[in-house]
Amino acid sequence: MNFPVTTSSAVSQKQPAAVLFAFEKERVEGPAALQSLLRSVGPKEFRGAERQLFLLHSAGKLSSKRVLLVGLGKRDKFTPELLRRAMGGAAKKLRDIGIERAAVQITGNADTSVRAIVEAAILATYQFRQFKPVDDGDGTELKTLTLCIPAGADMKAARNAAAEAQIIAEATNFAREIGNLPGNVVTPRVMAEYARTLAGEAGLVCTVLAKTELEKGGFGGLLAVGGGSANEPHLIVLEYYGSKDAPTIALVGKAITFDSGGISIKPSDKMDEMKFDKCGGVAVLAILKAVAQLKLPLNILGVISSAENMPGSTSYRPGDIVTSYRGADQRAVTIEVLNTDAEGRVVLGDALVYARERGAKTIIDFATLTGACVVALGSFAAGLFGNDDALLKQIRACGESTGDRVWPLPLWQEYKDKIKSDVADIKNTGGRYGGASTAAAFLARYVDDTPWAHLDIAGTAWTTEELPYLTKGATGFGVRLVIDLLRGWS
Ligand code: BES
Ligand code: MN
Ligand code: ZN
Repeated sequence: MNFPVTTSSAVSQKQPAAVLFAFEKERVEGPAALQSLLRSVGPKEFRGAERQLFLLHSAGKLSSKRVLLVGLGKRDKFTPELLRRAMGGAAKKLRDIGIERAAVQITGNADTSVRAIVEAAILATYQFRQFKPVDDGDGTELKTLTLCIPAGADMKAARNAAAEAQIIAEATNFAREIGNLPGNVVTPRVMAEYARTLAGEAGLVCTVLAKTELEKGGFGGLLAVGGGSANEPHLIVLEYYGSKDAPTIALVGKAITFDSGGISIKPSDKMDEMKFDKCGGVAVLAILKAVAQLKLPLNILGVISSAENMPGSTSYRPGDIVTSYRGADQRAVTIEVLNTDAEGRVVLGDALVYARERGAKTIIDFATLTGACVVALGSFAAGLFGNDDALLKQIRACGESTGDRVWPLPLWQEYKDKIKSDVADIKNTGGRYGGASTAAAFLARYVDDTPWAHLDIAGTAWTTEELPYLTKGATGFGVRLVIDLLRGWS
């Protein structure tokens, strides 16, 4: 999609449509010709309620052929997220009625509005079409959205904001595309190939540890979980160097390309959704892609633990005792496996130790870790855990501004006590209750005092319902959130 910037008004352009935002019960600003056209609209037809859409034909009264009115709700409740939601609906509507070019009138803070509009337009019109190329519609795509900023506003700043928002939204769609691919297409080896290709394009350093290297290194957790599948496990490492002296920030992701549960097999109902169990690792890929394109002055280490969790004669079993990756640590953590379906934490343990060994000064991990987190928060927020209040506070703020919302859950000593084992250091389940917190307590064992945040994205990584600016399937959750965090890193 293209986003030219101009200081002339949207309705004055010879385009198929002009998009105008309106606050509830407020007059839409614009020239006399527009006002006369708007007089034909009754107050009950369009009042500017949140995400309300109303399409008018200008019948020669304006240069723009059509006007799409888009409600923002009450002015005093306005947030960038509401603008994204409104624009998401508008972009889908334009596409659905066969419009390829439109102009959108920017009001309010130009920088925030431009970012929200560009992001929403790109996210809302994404479709997963690799295996069904023919759209249910006529195949029209919204190609050009002209951003009409107020006369006197800074064109260069607006162009820059649009370009950055485009990089971030396209990285999010990159995550959605890989996330949506099924387990027969994306195996751990294919995840590694995506990382290698990305590294080549973006100038990242990529290291892949396949099965023999994992065996040599003693990555007992990843090997145990991946042991039951012919698609062998891989540890994927990506490095971005954008600064001489900045401390390393590690992004660690769970990438189970399919989670059947293993020997502790899941019920078949909804098991298909476990193709999305790689979305944490995929978010790490996408964040690194955007960080490189934005040339952020930071050093980032991406570590993705990828395996397929399958039942079979070589699978790990309930009762097994597994030894995690030791790294440069004194002694490796041992795990009593009580449920092979609690595999995410087992593969992440190895990755967290590896990240610390490689000098991470801050760690953020992403994982579709627990059904319990979905029970607690539904699909409206990811669970947020960690050991560093300042870091968690920043992540919460970025969650609010990007719409990738997170909510804190506790990590008290009582949860850590729940995963004590009689025969190993820890066991891989703490029972049904407080499951998101006991899973986080398991991870905490591997990070020690390194500042760390854990995002349980089990409820947010994909959506089974159409959302205002997201379509069904993988959401790319965490990508916009963490890029926002890294853009403001100091
Ligand atoms: N990938 C699942 C968690 C999950 C479940 C994410 C449903 C999204 C929707 C994870 O590997 C898992 O199976 N967790 C178990 C842990 C339990 C056995 C302690 C769970 O949540 O049921
Ligand atoms: Mn599982
Ligand atoms: Zn899983």
